[in-house]
Amino acid sequence: MAIENATRPVALPRTTDRADSLTVRDDRTGKTYIVPIEDGAIRATELNKIRTGADDPGLLTYDPGFMATAAVKSAITYIDGDAGILRYRGYPIDEVAEKLGFLEVASLLLEGDLPTDEELTVWKDEIVHHTFIHENIKKFIDGFQHDAHPMGILMSTVAALSTFYPEAKKFTEKATRRKQIVRLIAKMPTIAAFAYRHAVGLPYSYPDNDLSYTGNFLGMMWKTTELKYQPDPILERALEVLFILHADHEQNCSTSTVRVVGSSKADPYSAVAAGVGALYGPLHGGANEQVLRMLAEIGSLDRVPEHIERVKKGELRLMGFGHRVYKSYDPRAKMIKKIADQVFSVTGRNPLLDIALELEKIALEDDYFLNHKLYPNVDFYSGLIYQAMGFPLEMFPVLFAIGRTPGWLAQWEEGLLDPDQKIARPRQLYLGPGERHLSKA
Ligand code: ACO
Repeated sequence: MAIENATRPVALPRTTDRADSLTVRDDRTGKTYIVPIEDGAIRATELNKIRTGADDPGLLTYDPGFMATAAVKSAITYIDGDAGILRYRGYPIDEVAEKLGFLEVASLLLEGDLPTDEELTVWKDEIVHHTFIHENIKKFIDGFQHDAHPMGILMSTVAALSTFYPEAKKFTEKATRRKQIVRLIAKMPTIAAFAYRHAVGLPYSYPDNDLSYTGNFLGMMWKTTELKYQPDPILERALEVLFILHADHEQNCSTSTVRVVGSSKADPYSAVAAGVGALYGPLHGGANEQVLRMLAEIGSLDRVPEHIERVKKGELRLMGFGHRVYKSYDPRAKMIKKIADQVFSVTGRNPLLDIALELEKIALEDDYFLNHKLYPNVDFYSGLIYQAMGFPLEMFPVLFAIGRTPGWLAQWEEGLLDPDQKIARPRQLYLGPGERHLSKA
């Protein structure tokens, strides 16, 4: 950054008629600064060079919740929140969800391009061969209280995996890194299903590697005395599409958490466990569970207007509505609404659907929601489908975590390989007392 006084700003190199720079005048000093703009952003460290004197630590940007701060450069997922666009590695989400399988999408996110048929076969085979978990992990899950939330079990068990695979710390070697990625994607459904079976007191059902990724998960959830579990193909595909729709969503709260933990060079199990923790919150992955609780609490169509009024008064939030990035209809919610009909054709209609549709109808016509740009997000309809498929509410964020795992890992690896990345360490604006001393003798 060039620093010049107010009368003579530095001449800018111009490649086009438009200068790719920002001219800032510091009114405290009268100095003018020319800050380069690269990829639509300025480097915050350039602003830090703006100082009033030698003892000034430099200007900081204040951005709670990272509303306008890009912390990474990424080539994985693209979102245009105003236009309602979501793309994985350039492919529109509707094409991806309609035409690909979950493991193919996982490979796309991780590798950057679609696998060939041969690569996909090898990749699926690798995943299938890592679905089992160590018997000690089973004992570990046994130790949880019968009413432990499965998300808590998932978070702790994923963290515990790092103690089973200490070589994971050598993730700078590509082969080691790949092995942990395979293990995590393969074992998430097993841990998730075991967490559920523990809660309901059913014996654990071991993976059946003849089934698809999703079919195997459904089998581990629901299998009882049958020799071979046969998933309903419509439900199996619906769940697969839901996993695909959740597979990545650029720098959301849990993904940023995974990246932050990864930036300290912790192993991927620790990073993903932290991501599960972030996802657990009701403003993030816990929202789908909260949507169902909200719909059940509303209870009947005639109580919908009253609920909307309470939301508008600021007493409550309309769960499943609003998004930090989407300021129009979440494209994932559109697709989920479509899948709902297919699922209900097998399971019967979820009676809470009518309340959800009425809430959406009123909200989409109401000035409060229009002015605040609040539209249904991915969580508004997903819970209705999960419930119709028989999943208890507590499992909803767990299902989200299974779907999101490839995205977390792709983003973790991208962060690791990015020479620009450093250990995450935000700055603060200290507003506490100045130096003071204890009066005690
Ligand atoms: N219901 C009612 N009002 C809302 C809602 C909502 N769901 N969401 C935002 N608002 C209002 C806020 O009250 C605020 O109003 P004000 O400016 O008049 O004070 C304004 O919209 C902006 O809200 P913020 O919280 O600042 O928006 P932010 O981008 O930080 O929050 C979030 C996004 C957390 C998703 C929010 O919309 C929310 O809480 N939604 C409900 C929870 C939810 O569905 N989460 C799932 C998100 S999708 C996902 O994580 C997969």
